[in-house]
Amino acid sequence: MEFRLLDPGATRALTGVLLALWQRAFAGPPYFVEPGDLPRVRGLFRRHLATPGFRAAVAFHRGVPVGFAYGFPRRPGEPWTEEVAASLPPELRERWLREAFGFVEFAVDPAYQGLGVGSTLHDRLLASTDRPRAVLTVHAHAPALRFYLHRGWRRLGWLKGAAYWILGKELR
Ligand SMILES: CC(C)(COP(=O)(O)OP(=O)(O)OC[C@H]1O[C@@H](n2cnc3c(N)ncnc32)[C@H](O)[C@@H]1OP(=O)(O)O)[C@@H](O)C(=O)NCCC(=O)NCCS
Repeated sequence: MEFRLLDPGATRALTGVLLALWQRAFAGPPYFVEPGDLPRVRGLFRRHLATPGFRAAVAFHRGVPVGFAYGFPRRPGEPWTEEVAASLPPELRERWLREAFGFVEFAVDPAYQGLGVGSTLHDRLLASTDRPRAVLTVHAHAPALRFYLHRGWRRLGWLKGAAYWILGKELR
């Protein structure tokens, strides 16, 4: 297994294979993502690639991507940040959203899950930012919630009107 930190250009070149593995990883509960969802997700992926500070950690097995995590510094004004801000009390909003690194997407091909690939991707991506804190949202029924809580993330609040927890992690 080889782990690489990629810039937007190198990540863009892998778009097809990354989205296909993302779909396989999210095919089960609670997401039930289908191949038909991919055009919408491709648009979102393209927007994320264009966000300043984007970087991805990608795991390769025999040269083929089998897992990835990506993120970028969160900024006021973007829809996700505003939605999270509106769900947090002022003191948490100020502390967690100012200078936060967004841990945005995370998927390991089901055939490679449970082998430590996700843990290494998670650690490599977070080690690549100099932001002091990281934030993410995760579905309340996703197995990944346990993964995050075992790795120092804590619940900051509940995303208003959605079945998602807002999690934060101190990076220093
Ligand atoms: C979350 C995810 C990226 C983790 O990747 P991974 O390579 O399986 O992670 P690891 O192998 O490093 O660790 C998996 C954890 O599950 C446990 N595990 C054991 N067997 C497992 C299996 N067959 N499948 C998944 N996890 C297993 C591991 O012991 C570890 O537990 P820990 O938290 O107590 O250390 C991966 O499960 C995934 O793609 N899930 C679907 C998509 C998703 O939910 N993404 C996150 C959205 S916020």
